[in-house]
Amino acid sequence: MISSIRRHLAWKIFISYLVVILISTIVLATTAEFVVPRSFDRHLAAMGSMMVNMMGSSSMGFDLDLDLFTNFRAAVNEALTIAALAAVASAIVVSIFVSRQVVTPIREMMIASRYIAAGHYNERVHVPGDLTKNELDELSQLALSFNQMAEKLEQVEMMRRQLIGDVSHELRTPLTTIKGSMEGLMDGILPENDETYMGIYREADRLQRLVNDLQELSRVEAGAYELEPNPIDLLGLILAVVKRLEQQFKEKDVILEVDIPAKFPPIQADGDRIEQVLINLVGNALQHTPSGGRVKVSAKQQSGEIQITVSDTGIGISAEHTENIFTRFYRVEKSRARTGGGSGTGLTIAKYLVEAHGGRIWVESAGHELGSAFTFSLPNADKS
Ligand SMILES: Nc1ncnc2c1ncn2[C@@H]1O[C@H](COP(=O)(O)OP(=O)(O)O)[C@@H](O)[C@H]1O
Ligand SMILES: [Mg+2]
Repeated sequence: MISSIRRHLAWKIFISYLVVILISTIVLATTAEFVVPRSFDRHLAAMGSMMVNMMGSSSMGFDLDLDLFTNFRAAVNEALTIAALAAVASAIVVSIFVSRQVVTPIREMMIASRYIAAGHYNERVHVPGDLTKNELDELSQLALSFNQMAEKLEQVEMMRRQLIGDVSHELRTPLTTIKGSMEGLMDGILPENDETYMGIYREADRLQRLVNDLQELSRVEAGAYELEPNPIDLLGLILAVVKRLEQQFKEKDVILEVDIPAKFPPIQADGDRIEQVLINLVGNALQHTPSGGRVKVSAKQQSGEIQITVSDTGIGISAEHTENIFTRFYRVEKSRARTGGGSGTGLTIAKYLVEAHGGRIWVESAGHELGSAFTFSLPNADKS
């Protein structure tokens, strides 16, 4: 009961009304007790002297009745006036107390929201009440949501700044190389041969890939695409991906194998998107596995979901990086000299796509040089 009162503003306001009514009733009862007899006596005494003056009058009995009634009314009015004054006084006190409880947090939130609108995202308001006892009323909950909103805004703002920083950094590298080469060519320091042109072309190509990746990332992050889930044949999809990348594996002398049970239930997913995820994972595996290694794509059913794993015998990922590997622009090899490397958005996109399907994606690696295994799960078709 008490905690229910603490949690509801309506209860608090209702109780404040009750307090005013209670105080005025008590005052009315007490004044009636004390004031009425006294004022009654007073009026009766006044009447007594009047009676002496009017002795012998025949209409005396009637006058007495009338006066008694008038006196009684005057006495009650006196008591009522005192009670009304007490009610007004207690109403003022109670409403000051209640409105302070209501208005103070609202005013605080109003000021804080202006601050936030002006770009001070670190502003927070005080949450009245005890958080741990779950005794927050509507206003405290509003203050709590307000703080959560402010925190989210602060995070978004931080990510936005980070993104701009990262993107400009990523764009600068190829641009610097292209500009340097062009200057070298103009000054006659660099020879005008295929190698120079190829170098410039590669950097321009990298720039273009980066812009494409960014566009794709922003589309996926904003959810600006439609998932079209259909029953898909996973084995067929994996074989199609394998066929697409076969040549590259041959060129690098890495073995690509597939291990899927022959009888596999059709899954409910957007084929194109899952293919995109697979190409990302298999492409990464190829990129990080030296010649002579092997990459395996396998799938199994596990506790109500389907798990697809791409494992390799490549350079592996040490524990400190596995946390961040799905963060955009994150690359273990930060080296600027990388040629084949991407922009660090492939796994981020894969994560978004898998999560859009209601699945998860994670990586396991025994450590550096010990290979790694990326697994993503998809909910079973019959469950969705
Ligand atoms: N199979 C793998 N083995 C080792 N490291 C990997 C593997 N796949 C991804 N990584 C690491 O994760 C980083 C992020 O991958 P990704 O998001 O695909 O970006 P990108 O391939 O564009 O660099 C890579 O730069 C690499 O350091
Ligand atoms: Mg990649």
